[in-house]
Amino acid sequence: MTDHKGFEVDAGADGVDWNAQAASFDQEPDHGLRDPRVRAAWAERLRSWLPGRACDVLDLGCGTGSLSLLAAEQGHRVTGVDSAPAMVDLARAKLAGRDAAFLVGDAATPPVGEQRFDVVLVRHVLWALPDPGRALRHWRQLLRPGGRLVLVEGVWGTVSPVGIPAARLTALVEPLAGQVRVEPLSDDPALWGRAVEDERYVVVATAA
Ligand SMILES: C[S@@+](CC[C@H](N)C(=O)[O-])C[C@H]1O[C@@H](n2cnc3c(N)ncnc32)[C@H](O)[C@@H]1O
Repeated sequence: MTDHKGFEVDAGADGVDWNAQAASFDQEPDHGLRDPRVRAAWAERLRSWLPGRACDVLDLGCGTGSLSLLAAEQGHRVTGVDSAPAMVDLARAKLAGRDAAFLVGDAATPPVGEQRFDVVLVRHVLWALPDPGRALRHWRQLLRPGGRLVLVEGVWGTVSPVGIPAARLTALVEPLAGQVRVEPLSDDPALWGRAVEDERYVVVATAA
């Protein structure tokens, strides 16, 4: 079986062994954000998607914490959740000394108790959850009044595409939000470290 980037993997709950992928995950330009141009492109987008004031961000399926780090650098307090302990270890190391906490858990029902957030941030995770609609409804409950969902998703590949199209995700989110905005991301090679032709986008949904 292969993951959404075509890497061979052992099948896990979602078909991907994320613990096995953790050590090499940051090698992809848009994963590790090691290229300063790619990093700057994501930092600029993230700044435009997050509130201008310091706020509480819940990064679900946070992986190695690359977006968590950008959010922390922009002054936000971050809680990250990932089901793969190896990913959580790397995220903790990446954000050591920052105002950030990382938990092992299921993104669909994150173990955050009664805590509420200004932003639920999810990149490249929702598409692989067994019931995206149910997860979105739960995430909506985790938002403070006026909070927002920031959902970076796509449909990867052309031969055997995987992912969630923007139209389907928008239809799932619209009943939950007062305002929904879709921003295409395929046309900005700086985000990916190369030109891409498949569908990539962010949905920013603000709670009523
Ligand atoms: C493609 S990576 C994206 C990582 C990170 N969001 C990023 O954009 O760099 C998918 C991540 O989601 C995590 N994941 C997959 N299914 C999950 C679930 N049900 N609950 C929590 N994390 C999950 C994986 O362990 C992996 O770290």
